[in-house]
Formats: sequence, structure tokens, C-alpha cells
Amino acid sequence: MIKEPAYAKINLSLDVVGKREDGYHDLEMIMASIDLYDDLTFQIIPENRIRVTCEHPQVPTDERNLVYQAIRLMKDRYHIREGLAVHIDKRIPVTAGLAGGSSDAAATIRAINRLFDLNLTFEEMLDIGLYLGSDVPYCIYGRMAYVTGRGENIEPLPSLENVWVVVIHPDIAVSTKEIFSHVKVDQLAHPSVQQVKAAILKGNYSEMVRHMGNALETITFNLYPEVRQLKDEVASYQPDAVLMSGSGPTLFALTQDPTFAEQLKEKLDIPNGVKRTVFVVKLKR
Ligand code: C5P
Repeated sequence: MIKEPAYAKINLSLDVVGKREDGYHDLEMIMASIDLYDDLTFQIIPENRIRVTCEHPQVPTDERNLVYQAIRLMKDRYHIREGLAVHIDKRIPVTAGLAGGSSDAAATIRAINRLFDLNLTFEEMLDIGLYLGSDVPYCIYGRMAYVTGRGENIEPLPSLENVWVVVIHPDIAVSTKEIFSHVKVDQLAHPSVQQVKAAILKGNYSEMVRHMGNALETITFNLYPEVRQLKDEVASYQPDAVLMSGSGPTLFALTQDPTFAEQLKEKLDIPNGVKRTVFVVKLKR
């Protein structure tokens, strides 16, 4: 039996740079993992089947689950005859923009590589990951990175020390596919991801927070005005930055002061408008 953690990610910046022939979009992103994770436990079972268990009511345990799909794909590709039982202890909010499902799939790829001594290269794992979803390659890497293409080109960046992240998850399910279906690249406001990248390379936190942006915010905010209201509420407490992660609806605020982070959580925990869950975590090193 082995355990593998699956960390949640946030987008410190996200730009949509073009529409591709295959229907996906080319993106330019700064991605970071946070200290919020699902715990996955893997066990080889004698009968040749895939068994996924999870107590979270919104997580399917059949072939719709990316963990199930990752196992099936790797069993086929590497001729694995044993069965596998996986338990997902879910802590990352689902359909939130935090890549919970993608990170579970990435953890599965890493775990199967270890469990069956496959000795896969990082590139081979990325290739399997991209087949399952655009965020999976990044989740296999799991550290601060500049990410382009559909999500498969990963350029490592240095991590930032002492950054506290207040994650605010409004109780709304947002479909990534739906948000992207409304994208018109020339009508979006494009943040300067290059400036965010340059700031991170210099270890300059204040310069980074000044340039952060997410091109998908206006689309999600127009479809779900309560998310815009929530962002305004968070911004009124003046954290260093507040931004939507991915296609939303989860927002996050940044600060270098852990006391401020806890105070912000206390204020946001007071019911006001859309129901929300608030976590205080650190940017993962
Ligand atoms: O790859 P994934 O299944 O996570 O993507 C979900 C949906 O988001 C895709 O079907 C696509 O509509 C959209 N998407 C996109 N361009 C990307 C990533 C996702 O258009 N780079």
C-alpha cells in the first residue's frame, strides 16, 4: 500500500493567447501549488479490476473519475495485469478551479510509476497526463511554473517564500468547458504574464502582485455575478492581490502576513451573499 498526496493549484496569472485548430485554447499561465491536498491511498488487489472509493458526494467513482481513467490508461499502456484499489480522501473543493480532479490523476500517474517500478521519465508522465486533461501535466510537476500551450509546456520557476493564500470557494459549480466556450480572444483583457514571470524570477513579491491577472475573470463574472461581488468583498479588505483561479469560481487573496490572512478568513466567514468556504494555506515550496 502506498500513499500519494495530490496538491491543489492556483493560477497566479492566466492569459488566453489564441484558439487552436483542435478546439482548445493556447494559454500562458503562472501556476503554483498550495498546501491543500487530497490524500490518495493505492493498493494492489489480486483480481484484475479498478476500484475507486471516495466519500465526497460529488465525486463519481466510476469511469467518469480521472483517477479511474488514469489507471485504465496506464494498465493498458504498460500491460499491468494486477488490479488496483484507490481511496481518495477529498479535501480540495470540487469543480472549483483548483485542479482537484487533475491533481488526483497526476498523483495516480506518479503512484503507479512507483508501485510497478515503471521508471517512467517526466516527459512520459506528462504525455499520459495531457491525455487526461490540460491541468494534469502541471500537477505532475507541482511546483511554481510558467506554463504554456494547452498546459503541457512547463518551465520551472523559483518558489516564493512566506506567501499566505486565503482561498475562497463560493458554493457554485463552474464548468471549465462552458467558460472557454464564451472566449473571444480579441475581446479579452490580457494580463502581462511575462511581467509576473520576470517578477518571480527576481523574487520580487510586490512587483508580482502588481501585475497578476486572469483573462477568464470577466467571462465567469458575467455568467456568475455573485463571484464578482465576492471578489469586490474580498478586495475591500485590501489584501496584496485577489484573483480568480483558472476558470473559477474559486478566488484567492495573497498576503505575506499570516495574522492578516487569519483575520481575512474570519471576516469572510461571516455569511454575506453567496455561501463560501474559506481556507488559509501557504504557497507550497
Ligand atoms: O483539458 P480539460 O478536459 O481540463 O479541459 C476542459 C475544457 O476546457 C476543454 O474541453 C476545453 O473546452 C477547455 N479548455 C480549452 N483550452 C485549454 C484547456 C481547456 O479550451 N487549454
